[in-house]
Order: sequence, then C-alpha cells, then structure tokens
Amino acid sequence: MIHLLLQYLVNMIFAPLKNDRLLRAARGEEVDTVPIWIMRQAGRYLPEFRELRSKHDFFTICQTPELAAEITLQPIQRFDLDAAIIFSDILVIPQALGMNVEMRPGVGPVLPEPLVKPGDLNKLEVPVNVEHKLKYVGEAITLTRYKLEGKVPLIGFSGAPWTLMAYMIEGGGSKTLSKAKGWLYQHPESSKKLLSILTDVVVDYLVMQAESGAQLLQVFESNAEYLGPQVFKEFALPYLCDICKRVKARLSGQGLHDVPMTLFAKGAHYALKEMAKSGYDVLGIDWTVDPAEARKQVGPNITLQGNLDPCALYASPEKLHEMGSEMVRQFGKERYIANLGHGIYPDMNPEHVQVLINAVHSC
Ligand code: CP3
Repeated sequence: MIHLLLQYLVNMIFAPLKNDRLLRAARGEEVDTVPIWIMRQAGRYLPEFRELRSKHDFFTICQTPELAAEITLQPIQRFDLDAAIIFSDILVIPQALGMNVEMRPGVGPVLPEPLVKPGDLNKLEVPVNVEHKLKYVGEAITLTRYKLEGKVPLIGFSGAPWTLMAYMIEGGGSKTLSKAKGWLYQHPESSKKLLSILTDVVVDYLVMQAESGAQLLQVFESNAEYLGPQVFKEFALPYLCDICKRVKARLSGQGLHDVPMTLFAKGAHYALKEMAKSGYDVLGIDWTVDPAEARKQVGPNITLQGNLDPCALYASPEKLHEMGSEMVRQFGKERYIANLGHGIYPDMNPEHVQVLINAVHSC
C-alpha cells in the first residue's frame, strides 16, 4: 500500500509528457509524424560524451545517477529526438550476480573470470535483490525523468537472458560465441538453469525501472544472430516470452498498465513470426530485413522499429536524407518507430544524426 502510494507520488512530480509520439506509435495509435531515436544515441560519437567519459570510468558513470542523467540528456539537448534512453549497460546484470565486469577502452567489455563449467553457476550470488544491487539505475531513471521535464519519454532497458549468458561465458565479445554455444549443446540443462536465473533478474529489473519512471522498456537480444530457428526457439524465445508476460502482469497489478515493451533480437529474422506472438508491442529489426517482408511476417498489430544500416550515416547529407525518407516510405507511418538497425559508431558525424531526424520528421 505504502509502495503504491509512493509510486503515485513519484509520478505526480513528473511533468506531463509533451511529445508522446513514441508511446503512441508503440501502442498503434495515430501520430503527427514518425518518431525517431537512435541506438547508442548517448555515446562516443558525441564530443560532450567523450569529454565527460575522459574524467570517469564507464561503470562509475552508470552507478552515479547525476552523471548517468547528464549523459542521457546530452543527445536530447542537441537533437530533435523523440525519446531518451537511460545511460547504462546490459552488463550491470552480471555485475549484480557478483561477476566482475570491466569496460576497457578500445577493447569493450571484459569479464576476467567467466563461467567455465556448469559448477561455476554456484558462484553466482542468487537470488539477486535487484532493488538493492541495481538501485542506482532506478535512481538514475527517476532523476532523468525529472530533468527531462516531459520533453520526451524515457526508455529503460535490459539485456536478454541468452545475450547475457553469452557474455558471462565468453568473458567479453567473441566472433563465434563458440564457448557459450558449446554450453547449449553440451550442457543444455545447466544452460536452462542459467537462463532461468537471468530471467528472474531481468523481470525484477524491468519492473523496478518502470516503477522508477521508465515509460517504455526495451529488451536487447543482441546475440540472437548467432543462433538459428531451432536453437532460438529452445534457448531464447521461451525466456523472452516469460519476461514480457511476467513484467506486464506485475506492472498491471500496480496500476502501470501502459508501459509498452520492445524486443530487439538482432539477426533473428528467422523468428519474426514467432516473436510477433510473444507479447511485445514493438519488434526491432536490423538492416538485413526488408521492411515489407518484416510487416508480412509480423502482421498488422505489431509496431516495427528500425532499421537503417548504421553505415548509412557515413553517406553525404543529401544521400542520407534520401535514404531516411525512403525508409519511412517503405515502413509506412503507422505502427512504426524509426531507428538504426544497430548502434551508432564512435567515428560518425553527429550532424548527420539531425539530417536523419529531419528526413524522418519531414515525411
Ligand atoms: O543507447 C544508449 O545511448 C544507451 C546506452 C547503452 C549502452 N550500452 C552504453 C554503452 C545501451 C542501450 C547499451 C546496451 C548494450 N551494451 C548492448 C545491447 C545493444 C547492442 O549494442 O547490441 C550490448 C551488447 C552491450 C555490451 C557492450 N557495452 C559492448 C559490446 C560494448 C562495447 C562496444 C562499444 O561500442 O565499444 C559496450 C560499451 C558501451 N556501452 C559504450 C556505451 C556508450 C562505449 C564504451 C565506452 O564509453 O568506453
């Protein structure tokens, strides 16, 4: 009861939303113009990000709500984006499970003591008290939502179980994911145990983000591209469905009925039909999928998000404008959220982001 009252009060202090295009598109409502946000919009391509990042360690920024909020707002101050996404990383979940994760400049994430054998699951600190261990993310969300003053909605996110499992076993990025995929074939039961542990954490984590003020929740299954239809159906999809169902049930029980959920399973073009039945309101797609084919697969009642090749941002402003308009022409303006097909790269020209936004908004 006290919890519900607190949540009500927290929502009262937030300013009313001035730009609700993203939420309208996610729910399948009409929009005045197509909403757009960019994966990794707060990142190293922005000089103001590099400036702040040069002074602080990556995870220190994630764990300091004032810094995380400041970086989340950087692209919103610069561009006419239709959403903010909280600055954090998917790997805060392995950290909450007791694993050490470092972000090494020029290398990316490194987990120096990865899971090697099924017995290593005993080293994980479960169950995780998410409200305690990841409290800093909730605080960053509440602070950012307050600072946004209703300008645009705030997206919360989590990594999906298979993608997190892969990092925990590989110990970082990998070209083949052969160690993590090896587990799926050699230790299917232990793999499922790990995926279930992760699912429980992801559910609590997403619920906490919505309670803290996140207005849409995106699940990143970035490593789906390494799987095929059968393995995806066995080791990824059931957990993704479970997350959506449980998060929505928990939020509804608290009166938070209208927090849409997005699933971005990169490279899972082979499972679009199945994903359309998984309960998510929005499906993100990468640039290898033809928009008309995606629509055919998912049917009319799902919002699609994507899918410009990030490298299109290397093109001239004129050419980029053309490609942005063509993308909207192909997807249509209904049930559509414009984005790249994956994150923006550090060497890209920030001015080209506004060119793309203008192209989308002027359709
Ligand atoms: O999109 C945003 O602006 C919000 C912030 C955000 C980051 N990571 C910040 C970040 C989000 C949504 C993520 C998600 C994330 N993190 C994913 C899923 C999305 C995807 O890209 O598929 C994954 C797989 C990770 C893990 C991760 N974090 C990798 C592989 C890397 C290295 C790649 C790189 O770009 O260097 C990171 C680092 C990272 N996460 C950076 C940022 C801004 C750059 C690191 C730095 O500043 O040193």
